[in-house]
Amino acid sequence: MQERCINILGIETSCDETAAAVVADGHTVKSSVVASQTKLHEKYGGVVPEIASRAHIENIYQVITEAMEQAKINKDDIDAIAVANQPGLTIALVVGVTAAKTLSFAWDKPLIAINHLHAHLQSAIMAEEKPKLPAVALIVSGGHTCLYDYHSPLQPKLLGSTIDDAAGEAFDKVATILRLPYPGGPSIEKTAEKGNPKAIKFPRSMLGRDSLDFSFSGIKTAVLYHCRGQDMKGEDKVESMSEQEIADVASSFQAAVIDVLVKKTKRAVERIGAETVLLGGGVAANSHLRTALQKLCDSYKPVKKLFVAPKQYCTDNAVMVASLGYHKFKAELFADLTLEPKATG
Ligand code: KG4
Ligand code: ZN
Repeated sequence: MQERCINILGIETSCDETAAAVVADGHTVKSSVVASQTKLHEKYGGVVPEIASRAHIENIYQVITEAMEQAKINKDDIDAIAVANQPGLTIALVVGVTAAKTLSFAWDKPLIAINHLHAHLQSAIMAEEKPKLPAVALIVSGGHTCLYDYHSPLQPKLLGSTIDDAAGEAFDKVATILRLPYPGGPSIEKTAEKGNPKAIKFPRSMLGRDSLDFSFSGIKTAVLYHCRGQDMKGEDKVESMSEQEIADVASSFQAAVIDVLVKKTKRAVERIGAETVLLGGGVAANSHLRTALQKLCDSYKPVKKLFVAPKQYCTDNAVMVASLGYHKFKAELFADLTLEPKATG
């Protein structure tokens, strides 16, 4: 007799996307619903936690209902409810956590706590082909930039992370400086297409020979100085800059950030003797980063393969939460109704 598949309902509200998904056996996506709040935060140039939280409250019921309907599944066929409870904006996370706890209680289903960053990692390896381990995993998102020693989906070991701004945050801030639309990552990538990546030599902060940590606040400041003068007293030049000059800044900035990400990933690969590299998180949607990391993996012999999250699962979604939930379900790693949201993790 064929074994019934394990269906996990995933819920994600860590930042500005309200998302729910049903995934079978950790890899078959039965539904994925994402209510994006981009329009609400656009005019502030970044995510406003109170607004995010309120929008999650307004959307969560509808998003979960749609995910169940799209999957053509009823509660009896759900095996567990997985929810991202850390890290993120606490007042945003609490909405997903409360919804998940309520459903767990009402439907009498196990509850699974998911680390949002580990879920991003999972989106790179969701397909049925399994990566050769050990792997180095690079997660680049709006809130985090991290390198992991990845031995199993359940226990990735942190090797290094940002000591100030995350890479995505730097993209967003530089886009604001250049008056490009929010969210900054995709706008910078688009604007950079017509620019020269070698036009301006922005700093590449490597934090010493051995460090696997990142720092992106220096490059953000360098862009600011470039546009407003060293003492910041100069006129904001952006208004008078030509389209080509703006494209050159965007392209040179993007090249510098990617350069650092690739060099640090190579360092981590050497450190742990990895055969595989995984890439996930919102900034992983950037085509230049994907290509640069692919080039590294093709030219650096010890690495056999790069696993990259599909573009639609790079930014926040609940598929990655449900998929990782499956592995925790198999390992019987359940949470209880005392589960709380946590800002860090
Ligand atoms: O993973 P994510 O959806 O949210 C967090 O967990 O933070 O990542 C959002 C970040 C934003 O900073 C956004 O500007 C960036 O990912 N991003 C990109 C691109 N698409 C999204 N950055 C560079 N290039 C892109 N194409
Ligand atoms: Zn994220």
